[in-house]
Amino acid sequence: MNPVYEKLLKCYESIQKKIDFKPEIALVLGSGLGDYGETIDIVATLDYHDIEGFPISTVEGHKGRFIFGYIQGVPVVCMQGRVHYYEGYAMSDVVLPTRLMKMMGAKVLFLTNAAGGLNFDFHAGDFMMITDHIMTFVPSPLIGENINELGARFPDMSDVYKKDLQEIIRGTAKELGIKLQEGVYIQLTGPNYETPAEVRMCRALGADAAGMSTAAEAVAANHMGMKVCGISCITNLGCGMLDQPLSHAEVQETADRVAVDFKRLITQAILNIYHATRQ
Ligand code: HPA
Repeated sequence: MNPVYEKLLKCYESIQKKIDFKPEIALVLGSGLGDYGETIDIVATLDYHDIEGFPISTVEGHKGRFIFGYIQGVPVVCMQGRVHYYEGYAMSDVVLPTRLMKMMGAKVLFLTNAAGGLNFDFHAGDFMMITDHIMTFVPSPLIGENINELGARFPDMSDVYKKDLQEIIRGTAKELGIKLQEGVYIQLTGPNYETPAEVRMCRALGADAAGMSTAAEAVAANHMGMKVCGISCITNLGCGMLDQPLSHAEVQETADRVAVDFKRLITQAILNIYHATRQ
């Protein structure tokens, strides 16, 4: 059997032995949303470490877990801590938790992240709904023998971030009085931030925000037929756009500063998506 699929099945079976919960919506928590678990009526949690066969990073301090529970009655599974390509994982491992969430039953994938703004109309602290992505600079998670059980060899990518979900998120931001930018997310490998020349390149290519995650997860989810949507927290402007260096501390500070609004937006968007897509 395809080793990637074999690993996936092993992890899935390990989860099934421990957790009996069927989520409708899968949520990936980016920077600043570390305490989002407080919003969830938690039924169970499962550390990645406790899933048999789950790829574990050798990077110190790496931790992550799935949270299972309800957001105002909506059954969700939540990834608290993601797996990044820059940590040294294979792309197939990076998207393994995403694939697992689909196998658990989630139909919608709600992605969040921190990203650097490339668009001069953006400000640190803005939220950007992802309308499309560029991930040409990182390997596709679908490289290798296709796993036919998951999806097609050459999946269509014309509508990854579903238009109907975008419309719901747009409406939700309006309802809450939260400003929402929109744009194209570009995934780069990281872990270094971009140079000013790279920032200019990304902007010239049509990207509005740059980050080190998310697009690969979206590709894997789309391959499996999940409905994907995503929001970036613009924690900073890209290097060279302001006359100052960029630090991880700045990224974290901004993410923390706007976390309350980010959480409000995500919670209400999840409720609106759940109720709209069940009709
Ligand atoms: N670039 C890439 N990833 C990021 C950035 C950035 O400027 N800010 C937060 N994540």
